[in-house]
Amino acid sequence: MKRTLTHLMMAIAVMMCGACTSEDKNEPETPEIETPEIPDPPASPDTPNGKKMLVVYFSWGGTTQRMAQQIANLTGADLFRIEPVVPYPTEYTPCTEVALEERDTDARPAIVATVENWADYDMVFIGCPVWWHTAPMIINTFSESYDFKDKTVVPFCTYAATYRDETLARIVELTPDAAHLTGEGLTSGRINEQTIATWLRNIGIVE
Ligand SMILES: Cc1cc2nc3c(=O)[nH]c(=O)nc-3n(C[C@H](O)[C@H](O)[C@H](O)COP(=O)(O)O)c2cc1C
Repeated sequence: MKRTLTHLMMAIAVMMCGACTSEDKNEPETPEIETPEIPDPPASPDTPNGKKMLVVYFSWGGTTQRMAQQIANLTGADLFRIEPVVPYPTEYTPCTEVALEERDTDARPAIVATVENWADYDMVFIGCPVWWHTAPMIINTFSESYDFKDKTVVPFCTYAATYRDETLARIVELTPDAAHLTGEGLTSGRINEQTIATWLRNIGIVE
């Protein structure tokens, strides 16, 4: 009796298992698991420290432009050259005369182009040559044309011998709404990657 019962239970189990298997065979393949869409990673920062930077400069003879380019190379910043609508004389002495006249009349020489996407920049380097003991008046035109709230300004200049510090201070004075980092002023012969990298490291812009 006991054995009959055991056989019966085994038979039922086999039947059930058979039913299972055949049912499974009819079932559709395991549905593919939908992989959730992975969002794109955030856009990589434009600069090593994640700040979007712009190097704005005015240069008459090309020296300040060299310094500006080195800063841009080391930081990944964009470059914007301030170009006067009325070009300065290409001869040195006539240029100094126009520059002095502009300074003494508190002129605002017009600038050819405007910075695109100004609002996107966190940090703005502003550089120029020393002209008559201070920044050329076109720097006033520039600084009065943009909103510096929430920006950090880093001044830089090039010079022959004198008024380096006054010119850096003038750029700070012209951008009162910005925060400021310590600037750098170099004579032509000191413009090189090492000098500029040391300065940028000291003020925490590059590692
Ligand atoms: C109009 C004018 C005024 C200048 N005034 C000064 C000055 O007061 N102090 C100084 O050390 N260099 C002065 N310089 C020399 C320039 O600052 C220096 O050569 C600078 O590096 C030139 O930069 P750039 O080639 O970008 O124009 C003057 C140059 C010019 C053309």
